[in-house]
Amino acid sequence: MASNRGSNFLSGQTALRLLFLAFGLVSLVSLQAEAATKKYQFDVQVNNVSRLCHAKPIVTVNGRFPGPTIYAREGDRVIINVSNHAQYNMSIHWHGLKQYANGWADGPAYITQCPIKTGSSYVYDFNVTGQRGTLWWHAHIFWLRATVYGAIVILPQQGTPYPFPKPDSEHVVVLGEWWHADVEAVVKQGNAMGLPPNMSDAHTINGKPGPLFPCSEKHTFAMEVEQGKKYLLRIANAALNDELFFAIAGHNMTVVEIDAVYTKPFTTSAILIAPGQTTNVLVYANSPPGRYFMAVRAFQDVPIPVDNKTATAILEYKNIPTTLLPSLPKLPSPNDTAFALTYNKKLRSLNTRNFPANVPLKVDRNLFFTVGLGKSVCPTCVNGTRLSASLNNVTFVMPQTALLQAHHSNMDGVFTADFPDKPPKAFNYTGAPLTANLFTTHGTRLSKIAFNSTVELVIQDTNLLSVESHPFHLHGYNFFVVGTGVGNFDPAKDPAKYNLVDPPERNTVGVPTGGWSAIRFRADNPGVWFFHCHLELHTGWGLKTAFVVEDGPGKDQAVRPPPKDLPPC
Ligand code: C2O
Repeated sequence: MASNRGSNFLSGQTALRLLFLAFGLVSLVSLQAEAATKKYQFDVQVNNVSRLCHAKPIVTVNGRFPGPTIYAREGDRVIINVSNHAQYNMSIHWHGLKQYANGWADGPAYITQCPIKTGSSYVYDFNVTGQRGTLWWHAHIFWLRATVYGAIVILPQQGTPYPFPKPDSEHVVVLGEWWHADVEAVVKQGNAMGLPPNMSDAHTINGKPGPLFPCSEKHTFAMEVEQGKKYLLRIANAALNDELFFAIAGHNMTVVEIDAVYTKPFTTSAILIAPGQTTNVLVYANSPPGRYFMAVRAFQDVPIPVDNKTATAILEYKNIPTTLLPSLPKLPSPNDTAFALTYNKKLRSLNTRNFPANVPLKVDRNLFFTVGLGKSVCPTCVNGTRLSASLNNVTFVMPQTALLQAHHSNMDGVFTADFPDKPPKAFNYTGAPLTANLFTTHGTRLSKIAFNSTVELVIQDTNLLSVESHPFHLHGYNFFVVGTGVGNFDPAKDPAKYNLVDPPERNTVGVPTGGWSAIRFRADNPGVWFFHCHLELHTGWGLKTAFVVEDGPGKDQAVRPPPKDLPPC
């Protein structure tokens, strides 16, 4: 009996081992099956599109506005052939994808590649590794992203559930801005005058301003829901210059993910989303069946003019007559700083065993960047001056050759690796308004970062001309927002208050108006990575720089050789 049981036990163990082996094989096979290649053809072309009672030619991808959504699973390879038929030389950026050692597929013009010339094509070939959620893509040159943008949906690997209740269906909600006039012409005019270009004429939801605008009944995004079901909204802010509030009448939202990183879920009546950011929310259709407006309006807490009109879309329950007028949600007021600060405080990484927050606890390199607006002399401009912007008093000058190419082939004379780690002179950054340019210099200056070192960067807003909130985006990485505050960063006191356990992990951080944000990341992705304010206005004024992350010692830790079809400069 006993020996019997013993042999049973042994055979049981063998069976287990066999089962384990079989499972291993199955999962290996299924892993291989999962790592699919997704191919897309993007034809960049000019199409006439009508909005707000007025048609104009715009640059689109495949004639669609917004452009097509890219679908992939974590682990997939994605190959996108971009053929440029438009009159502008251009490039496309896959915002938030890490592009490990593969900056060639990142897309910012003159940073990682020269633009794709009219009549030419370029293949963006990349792997989606260790990321799942919503990201987005956009043109990365001039202001072309005003119409050239779309969503990227990365599903978890086959068989891996979401760490939140499974939605009954999912919808992409991309927020944007629309101008009556040709956007490139608007920008040109602004630059010639030395003033901000005219602000947009409407915000849009999936390219549509909604029925509160003239001629826009037919340009309204509507989403049908069924009572009792739950929906995942994948929201991206593709607006050029506006941080946005988004709310749905009669419904709360549960935030579950930001910038393709899962968060600790929390419920809110409105979300705040800065240009460049994405937010996934769950919506439960459990209100009285009816029609409800989703609404979008700008957040602006300083007296700087902003497009303050409200764009709407409709959430409608099944079988409700479309004659029923929807109700409007209560959006936070446009200058509701308190809402913005409290909302951002609620964002926390999920930080579970499967989705850990690997926050660097020790810092190898401390950086402190001040954000400054300024004026430079411009005799032909309206006021005799032109607005400009700087980081640590350096206004970034765009090169003529792509920086990644220059770095990879050790080309001299394209950039210098001497971007200052801190501003040349400390001052009361957020005190009384300052009008002087603090010895602003111009240059293509980059920070060189040792491979695999840990970096802490404090981004400090200043009151040069005006305080303002700035969404800063880092290419090639996610970072942890370990701290944020209003006023001047205090190196003696503030680090003690950092969240090093479950800080939000993202690719774009909103630095509060007249305040600071501290971010940390491990520089494990070699290449040249753009770092800039995602307000297109400020990027254009020079509020940008780039990090040169050196190659690591390993064979796979060096920037890959450039693809053969890399556009010539
Ligand atoms: Cu979405 Cu360099 O930007």
